[in-house]
This record gives sequence, structure tokens and C-alpha cells, in this order.
Amino acid sequence: MNPSEHLLHTYDKKTIVLHWVVAFLVVGLWIAGQCIDLLPRGFPRITLRSFHITFGVVFGLLLIYRIFWRRSGGVHLPTPNNGWLTRLAKYFHVFLYALMLSIFISGVVAVWYRGVNMFDLFKIPAFDAENKEMRKLLVFIHEWIANAIMLSVSLHTLVALWHHFKLKDGLLQRMWTSKSTSHEQK
Ligand code: HEM
Ligand code: HEM
Repeated sequence: MNPSEHLLHTYDKKTIVLHWVVAFLVVGLWIAGQCIDLLPRGFPRITLRSFHITFGVVFGLLLIYRIFWRRSGGVHLPTPNNGWLTRLAKYFHVFLYALMLSIFISGVVAVWYRGVNMFDLFKIPAFDAENKEMRKLLVFIHEWIANAIMLSVSLHTLVALWHHFKLKDGLLQRMWTSKSTSHEQK
């Protein structure tokens, strides 16, 4: 396939839906995470933190399923670039997956260590409630992975928009609408 030919093909529907649902969750969870400490202590903060954790778990499960799908049935398309740019794009996507797995793991570890009151309905017990320094450090690590994701995703978005508006090569289209031809590309 030459570089312009593969841009006529698209990812499969499941890959596209998973990409956009996960993207939406990442941005939503980042915004929610930033707002937790702005809310008054008590019910408002407990509720937002509980929603953050609940959607965080949904995000993690979808991410694991997405990785499984990308490694098994999902359509794979070559990047539209050549040489080192192809490798860079590929490694950058792997880096995005690694960041997303890290944020999930760091979130679960933070919950396990500090313990949480979920919606005032039940409590996840703290592994070590006394060690406030460690608790702060874990949330700090979680926050910085979240910021690294937002920075990387901004770059990823700019590149996608550059392809769309400047190069007009249809790259964005293949992660937007699924055509039947895509199944030939497995
Ligand atoms: C939080 C937001 C986002 C995350 C975490 C994310 C993550 C990813 C990942 C991991 C891939 C590689 C897919 C694979 O082969 O498995 C990908 C592909 C892609 N993303 Fe995103 N993305 C996000 C937002 C966006 C946005 C806002 C746009 C467009 C404006 C976009 C456009 C694309 C396109 C066009 C591809 C396909 C690239 C190619 O075929 O080489 N993404 N994204
Ligand atoms: C894309 C996924 C996620 C993003 C972008 C994200 C982002 C954030 C951000 C920005 C904060 C605020 C940190 C601070 O101000 O110090 C935060 C806090 C937190 N996150 Fe996440 N998070 C994600 C997933 C998760 C997951 C999967 C869990 C657990 C299962 C989790 C649990 C927590 C907890 C316990 C806090 C501390 C809340 C508090 O300050 O009381 N997060 N998150």
C-alpha cells in the first residue's frame, strides 16, 4: 500500500468508539480531579471524589479492554509518514497507552493507601491512615501523571488537527467514521 492509499481506509467501529469514549473520560476525570479540593469538605467533596473514582475505574476497565482489542481483533493502519516519523508516531502512541495505564494504577494505589468514603454509603479502608506524607506523595504522583497525559494529549491533538487542516490527508477521518473497507486491513 502506498502512503496515500492507506488513508482511504479507516479504523474499525469499536476502535473508534473506544478512542473517543476513553478520550472523553480522560479529559472529564482531569477536570473533576482538579475540582475535588476546591469543594467544601463533607458531602460535596465526598460525592465528587466518589464519582471521580467510579469513572476512573470505568476508564481503567475500558482501557484494558481497548488494549486487548488493539492486540487482537482491531484494525491496524500504517502511519501516513515515512522513516523516523513513522517510528516516532508509533512510540508516541505506545507512550500514551503507558501514561494511561500509569494513571489508572496510581489512582488505585492512592485509594488503597489513603482509603475513601464512597458516596457516604461504604468505606474502602485505608492501608495506612497515619502516614499523611506518603498519602500526599501518592496523590502528588497521580496528579503529575495526569498533567503529563494532558500535555501529551494536547500535542497529539495538535498533530491530528495539523494533518486535518494543513496536510488535508484524511488522517482524522479514519479515527472518526468507519468504512466497511477497514476490515480488509486487519
Ligand atoms: C484524551 C484524549 C486522547 C487520547 C488519550 C488519545 C489517544 C490515542 C491513542 C493511544 C491512539 C493510538 C490508537 C491505536 O493505534 O491504538 C490515538 C490515535 C488517534 N487519535 Fe487520539 N487521543 C485523544 C484525543 C484525540 C483528539 C482530540 C483527536 C483529534 C482532534 C485525536 C485524533 C486521533 C487520530 C486521528 C488517531 C489515529 C492516528 C493514526 O492513525 O496514526 N485523538 N489516540
Ligand atoms: C484518566 C484518568 C484520571 C485522571 C486524568 C485523574 C486526575 C486526577 C487529578 C488531576 C487529581 C487531583 C490531584 C490533586 O489535586 O492533588 C486526582 C485526584 C485523585 N484521583 Fe484521579 N485521575 C484519573 C483516574 C483515577 C482513578 C482510576 C482513580 C482510582 C481508582 C483515581 C483516584 C483519585 C484519588 C483518590 C484522588 C485524590 C482525591 C482527593 O484529593 O481527595 N483517579 N485525579
